[in-house]
This record gives sequence, C-alpha cells and structure tokens, in this order.
Amino acid sequence: MCGIVGYVGARPALGIVLDGLRRLEYRGYDSAGVAIVCDDELRTEKRAGKLANLEKALGDERFGSTRAVDQAAASPPAIGIGDGTAGIGHTRWATHGGPTDRNAHPHLSRDGRVAIIHNGIIENFAKLVAELEADGVEFVSDTDTECVAHLLAAALADLRDAGEPDGPQLLAAAMRRVCQRLEGAFTLLAVDAGIPGAVVGARRNSPLVVGRGPGEHYLASDVSAFIEHTRDAVELGQDQVVLITADSIEITDFSGAPALGRDFHIDWDASAAEKSGYDYFMLKEIAEQPQAVADTLLGRLTESGEIMLDEVRLTDQDLRDVDKVFIVACGTAYHSGMVAKYAIEHWTRIPCEVELASEFRYRDPVLDRSTLVVAISQSGETMDTLMALRHAKEQKARVLAICNTNGSTIPRESDAVLYTHGGPEIAVASTKAFLTQLVACYLIGLHLAQVRGIKYADEVAAVVSQLQEMPDKLRRVLDAMEPVRELARDLSTANQVLFIGRHVGYPVALEGALKLKELAYMHAEGFAAGELKHGPIALIDLGTPVVCVVPSPAGRGMLHDKVVSNIQEVRARGARTVVIAEEGDLAVAPYADDLIYVPRTPTLLAPLLTTVPLQVLACEIAAARGHDVDQPRNLAKSVTVE
Ligand code: G6P
Repeated sequence: MCGIVGYVGARPALGIVLDGLRRLEYRGYDSAGVAIVCDDELRTEKRAGKLANLEKALGDERFGSTRAVDQAAASPPAIGIGDGTAGIGHTRWATHGGPTDRNAHPHLSRDGRVAIIHNGIIENFAKLVAELEADGVEFVSDTDTECVAHLLAAALADLRDAGEPDGPQLLAAAMRRVCQRLEGAFTLLAVDAGIPGAVVGARRNSPLVVGRGPGEHYLASDVSAFIEHTRDAVELGQDQVVLITADSIEITDFSGAPALGRDFHIDWDASAAEKSGYDYFMLKEIAEQPQAVADTLLGRLTESGEIMLDEVRLTDQDLRDVDKVFIVACGTAYHSGMVAKYAIEHWTRIPCEVELASEFRYRDPVLDRSTLVVAISQSGETMDTLMALRHAKEQKARVLAICNTNGSTIPRESDAVLYTHGGPEIAVASTKAFLTQLVACYLIGLHLAQVRGIKYADEVAAVVSQLQEMPDKLRRVLDAMEPVRELARDLSTANQVLFIGRHVGYPVALEGALKLKELAYMHAEGFAAGELKHGPIALIDLGTPVVCVVPSPAGRGMLHDKVVSNIQEVRARGARTVVIAEEGDLAVAPYADDLIYVPRTPTLLAPLLTTVPLQVLACEIAAARGHDVDQPRNLAKSVTVE
C-alpha cells in the first residue's frame, strides 16, 4: 500500500526523501508528496500521478543547495525546500478519496504548521471529522488522513497551553495522544514547523522501520527506502510511537511508557534494489530466480540432515500433534500454497487445505491447538493474511509464516518462520517470491514429515538434493526463452488466453493467468484441465490460445495421458495450443502448435520450472501492448487494507 519515508540529519532531506520514495513507489503510485521543515516553515509539494509528476513540480528546487548557492551572490534567499534537513514523503495507493492533487499526502493542519502522511485506514474517521467540523475545521480533502493533521495540531496546541516545553518530546507526546483516538490500521509520520530537527512516527497494524545512520535517522515503510544509506535498522512493535532526531531514536508505547524495537542488520545492499540494466524490475527479478532459489535453500540442512527453520517458537511435539494444516495467503502466494497442498499431503499424510486469506476468518473455520496454519506472504504485511493469522491464533492454532521480509508483521506474530531469501522484489507482479515460496513450502513439508517420523533424514536429503539442482535447471529454462518472447509478440493481440493444468500444473495455470491479467489487462483464466469440459470449453473459439501445463510422463503416467487428452479436446475446438512439457516428452508434440520444453524434474517440484515461461510470456505480452510492466494499473505490491 502507500509508501512513507522520513529523514532527519545534517544533509538536505528532500533528495533523500525523493530517493526513498522512488524505491517505495511499488507500494502505490496514485500520487506523491513531500513536506520539508525549512527554518521555521514547512515547505510542501504534492501531485497526483507517479513520482515523476512531483519531481517535475519541484523542478530545480529539488537540487536545493545548488539553487541556494547560485542565488547567494544577489541576495541570500530564505532556505528552500531543497535545503531543509528534516522531512517526510509519501507515495499513495488511494483508499479514501480519488487520486487527485488535493487528496495526495502530506495533509496539513489549518495553519500549515503540521504535516502528516499516512499508510492504512482510519476506521473511525467519520466520527473524528464530524467532531472537528463541529469545532469549525474545514476539510480540504476527501481523505481519512486529514483529520489526523488537525487532531495533531490541536494536541500540540493543548500541550503548549498546558505549559509543556516546546521541542521534539512535545511532538511525540501529541502523536501519542492522537493515536489513542484512532481506530484501524495506520503508520503515521509527522513534522511540525516549530519543531525542526525531529520527525515522529507511529504504527498500528501497518509497517514502520527505523534506519540508523551516523548523525542521521530514517523512518520508512520498508528498508529499501534507506538501504543506500544504512543497513542497520530497528523494527517497531505494534502500537508504538518513535521519535527520531539526528542523534536519537526514542520509542514508547501509546501511553508514553518506554519501549524497545528489535535491531536487525539488512543482508542485501542497494544494488539489489536497482534495475541493473534490465528494462523492468520484473525482468531482473525473473532472471534472479536461480539465485533466489539457491539462497532460499542455503544452509537449511543440519549435519544430521534436519531442516532448519529461521525462528521456532514451537516444540517438535507441537508439530507432531498437528492433525490438520491450513495454508492462508493471497494472490500469487495463494498459488504457491496450492502447490504446497499436494506436497504436504503426499509427504506427511496430514490433511491440508488452502484458503484465500480474505475469506478465511469469515467462514469460521474449525481450528484448535492441533491445527497448523501456514501463512505465506512475500511482504509480510498483507492485511488479509495478517487478519487470518490473528484469527487462527485466537482459536489457539499454531502459525508458521513463510515470508521474504525480515522485520515485517506476519513473521513477528507467528510461532515459527521460514524466510525466503529472495532479496527485494520491486515489480508488483510477483516472480522470484513465488519460486522461493515454493521452495519454502517444500522444506516445510519435508520438515513436518521428518519431525513426525514419516520421512528419514536420507529421504529428506534426496528431495533437498533434487531441489539443489533447480538453480541450474532454471538457468537452462531462462536461456531458452527467446521463442517465448517471439510467441508473446504473436499473442499480444489475442482477446483472451486460457491456461490449463492438472495436479500441481493446475496452480501453475492459475498463476500464468493471474500474471497475464495483472500485466497485460487481458481476459485470462486458469482451469483444472479436467474441469474444462464442464463449462469453460465453451470459451474456445478458432485460434483461442490455450496454454497447457503438462506433467512429467515419467512421474505419473496416467496424469500425463489425461492432460494430453485434454489438449486434444481443446485443439479439436480450434484452440491454438501452447504446450509446456518436459524435455523428451514426444507424446505431446503432435498436439502442440507451440512447444516449450523445460528440463526433466520430479512431478511435485515441476512448478519451479513450468511457471517461468508463463512469467516471461505475461511480461513480454504486456510490454508489447505498451503497458507499464512494473507498475500495472490499479495494483499495489503490498496491500495493507482488507
Ligand atoms: C498483492 C500483489 C500480489 C501478491 C499479493 C500477496 O495483491 O499485487 O502480487 O501476490 O498481494 O502479497 P504478499 O506480500 O502477501 O505475498
């Protein structure tokens, strides 16, 4: 959802804040804005649309110090927006109020002295707005956020009237007072023109991390905003307020009691968050998949052949007591969960259900102490998944998280965590996160099987070694993508594309269709191949492209033959069949209009390979149709509202 960044130090804040916003733009790109404290004034600028619009509006001012020096000879100017050394910035994914200049953040108090930015939703905003309007406040936006600016200004005024000394502490005290009145999810950052050298932040149900630098500090939705300046960070807990100045970080709870954050070191650097010569982040992230898979596997086996999780607040007995597994996730992560179901049930013989996190708690699932809920989330902040997790914990179920983001909420609230070491994923459409989630799911399936005595160390090691062959196989897949790119150009004018698969090929078909919808804005649907004849086959017209994900003939022969029959069925109705099959599978060749081979691999692990051509296909079709591949319309990378 929205991206927020704050800075206090000795350097001009504007450039640092804009750089941070550029890295956070994947979180939302409906509008962007900044507020910088300049002497005793606030200078703000905000614009609808992408960050580039804001930068254009700022013009040369964003290179503030140059401008100040150039003009110094004539008459020394008041310090410009580019010169202030404390400030905040926001990139928005609209919830309340359309994506206009007026609704862009920061929002200001009536006197323009207080600026606030917000990620999340203030659920009781209507009540607060009514109260403020009764006091004569006129609102200038349609957002739920603006009320916080007015409340904060009022709290500051009250504290000043009560004789509290002016200064950074006053800003923190006012923020705490405001937070106690807010319901919902929020990360807030604020500055006050009269309190230079301080930025205050607060969080509830929404992410906020602190970056620690020498004589300077940062606040941001995630570490990528300040990674080029520091890799030392502090993760905030729930319901905390943080005050940063150039020399200090002070954390309290909402009542003012001192609190602690969790220090951590970021183990990737700024270059990992750059495009490195690729046209799109998505292409770079597709290319990084061999490494991401290798990194996620790294160091997972102990000398005795046991799989290691990263954080375990569960005993082996807890895992032995598990009699049912629920996987909860959204979007692409949900598809990885669907694959996991096949592996977990096959390897552990424990019943496993996969649920859309957004549906989970509303249907009152049957959960108890012996239920294991696996929450899969790249960002660790998806609100639907977080709420499903909390519901599971309320029912006493154990929760195990699969997550790519250290310091995020979902792993923090889980009983055990397995981190995917995919590195930062910037493109909105998930690629390497999906593959690393699959690896994590396989590892968890093996871990469960081992703890429960169903698989021995050597059997686990055999699957792990098959997984370890995947980076090389993935490189081979990636090296053979030119025909897929050509095919994409050919298919870019199609009206619709259908995807079919069976067994683990079914979630792959769903993921292929999701990618195409997200990026190319085309009608695309994934189906269980056997289900097609029960309705969707009516969609097939002369030339309709149907992408068919074929299982290995070596693994489960019957499954393979059934899919080949399904391919014949669609072909008989005029479809153009694009077949993804295993090298050496000659049986499919006569029915494939386009044939893409991937290296041989065990059936359960095949999604690690068969997904990749579908990612490339969607990316290239979107590019051919002239769309912004990294930032598709209406979407956001991290969805922190329900
Ligand atoms: C959003 C993104 C998807 C992602 C889903 C789940 O909808 O656009 O790409 O799969 O959220 O995100 P998560 O961070 O929980 O994996």
